[in-house]
Formats: sequence, structure tokens, C-alpha cells
Amino acid sequence: MALEQTLSIIKPDGVRRNLVGKILSRFEENNLRIVATKMIHMTISEAEGFYAVHRERPFFSELTQFMSSGPVVVSILEGENAVSHHREIMGATNPAEAAEGTIRRDYAESLGENTVHGSDSLENAAVEIAYFFSQTERVNSAS
Ligand code: CMP
Repeated sequence: MALEQTLSIIKPDGVRRNLVGKILSRFEENNLRIVATKMIHMTISEAEGFYAVHRERPFFSELTQFMSSGPVVVSILEGENAVSHHREIMGATNPAEAAEGTIRRDYAESLGENTVHGSDSLENAAVEIAYFFSQTERVNSAS
């Protein structure tokens, strides 16, 4: 088992519906430690930069408009196999396919507005963490 960090976002639909505390609790209850967190409101160009890998997808405009439509909570989560563990807790991208007991099954309303985002690999986690957090904003569980 490896101690990892991953990037988590509570999307505008989650913040709008007052789910921040409930969602962060799920992470803590499942042995993921919040080592940095903040609320931000992305501009459209910041959302486009974050999701640049999806630039050619038909849903890119819808996705970036949604992600800049209101505040989000970005967090760095740390734990054993944090990248895959966080994705398990979130559930499948499409809430209709998400397993029982997952965040998306319980809260997400659609594929586009699916309440949470999580890095899909350790490499992308490093890139995504650096997109939102400076070195001085990061701590680790040993500090
Ligand atoms: P996320 O994990 O944030 O990564 C990319 C996002 O694109 C994904 O969650 C979905 O919210 C969104 N997405 C993926 N497929 C579609 C789609 N077909 N239509 C709209 N949004 C989508």
C-alpha cells in the first residue's frame, strides 16, 4: 500500500445544495485525511485550463460553464492508495451507474452535474494539485 495524495473537487451543485460538510465527512470517515482545502469560484478560463484534456469533447463547453457557475471546494486528500480509494468513495462518473453508498449515487443528479471530481491517476493528481495549491498551502499527515 502506498501513501498518496489526490485532488478532490466538490462541484457547484454540491456547494449550492449545502453538501460540503457531508461530503468532506465521507472522506474522513473513509480514512482519507484533508491536508488542504479551500473554496474558490473559477473563471471560465480557469475551468477550461483545468479540464484542458477534455477540450475536444462535445461536452467541454457545458462542463466548463457548469464548473465556473458557482463556488467549488478543492481539497488535497491523503491516504493509502488515495487516488483509487477516493474514486471508489465517489462512485462511477455517471450517477445512474454509481454503486450504492457512493457520493454520486446518493447526491449526484446527472452525468454533467455529478457533485464531485477526483483525479484519475497519480500522475494527474500531481498536475491537478499543482493547478490549485501552492507549495506553502500543502501539508502532509506527518506535519
Ligand atoms: P469529472 O470527473 O469531473 O471529469 C470530467 C467530467 O466531464 C465528468 O466528471 C463529468 O461531469 C463530465 N462529463 C463526462 N461525460 C459527459 C457527458 N457526456 N456530458 C456532460 N458532461 C460529461
